[in-house]
Amino acid sequence: MEKIIEVKDVIVEYLLGKVVVSALRGINLEIEKGDFIAVMGKSGSGKSTLLQIIGGLQRPTKGKVFINGVDLSKLDENELAIFRRKNIGFIFQAYNLIPILTAIENVELPMIFYNMPQKQRTEKATKILYKMGLSDRLNHKPSELSGGEQQRVGIARSLANDPEIILADEPTGNLDSKSGESIMEEFVEVNRSFGKTVVIVTHARDVALYANKIIHIKDGLIESIEEIRRN
Ligand SMILES: Nc1ncnc2c1ncn2[C@@H]1O[C@H](COP(=O)(O)OP(=O)(O)OP(=O)(O)O)[C@@H](O)[C@H]1O
Ligand SMILES: [Mg+2]
Repeated sequence: MEKIIEVKDVIVEYLLGKVVVSALRGINLEIEKGDFIAVMGKSGSGKSTLLQIIGGLQRPTKGKVFINGVDLSKLDENELAIFRRKNIGFIFQAYNLIPILTAIENVELPMIFYNMPQKQRTEKATKILYKMGLSDRLNHKPSELSGGEQQRVGIARSLANDPEIILADEPTGNLDSKSGESIMEEFVEVNRSFGKTVVIVTHARDVALYANKIIHIKDGLIESIEEIRRN
């Protein structure tokens, strides 16, 4: 199997006044291409911090992150932003869609940075939204969509630039269990049909069980890695 994400001896410390808070205390982790990983652990254990480190949204205090062999610490802020845009799609608990834009405009937005012509953008966004079951919601604004529908738009947007890696922090955290299940089925599709490497953070074991590996984090350290077997 091919390694796509490598986290080496990562420590993250925050300085709060004079107090040092250790969010990650020495993480070593390898994720293979095509993996579907769930990160679980108590509140404050470091799950979101780990996701941000993997996605290059934040830099570690010590240690390194490699994505497809690229050492993120060697990239300056501008190079890192370009690298993220090309390689990583993010999905958030609170959807983070632009309220004044329609579903299709939200999905087209990341493509604008690539100077993709309007016609091509619209075609691509439409195609992804159809796959997410939103063919009749293209011109709805976020406030005119249910939570589950907004999160589908969030997933569609994360796929816009065709990144290899999809990272999601509690993507079902604001949803009822039924919408949560259908969002998790979309992640399975994103992993299997689109062939993306997926890492999600969740509190809920039933959500984590959609993944093929669960990484349990405790107090900023990996406690165990659980392989999920399916019959
Ligand atoms: N910007 C910050 N400044 C100071 N401390 C922080 C900051 N961000 C996170 N922390 C601390 O780092 C630790 C890990 O935080 P993190 O957000 O990664 O936890 P989490 O596992 O995602 O928790 P939750 O399940 O509540 O989202 C916590 O103790 C938190 O208080
Ligand atoms: Mg968190």
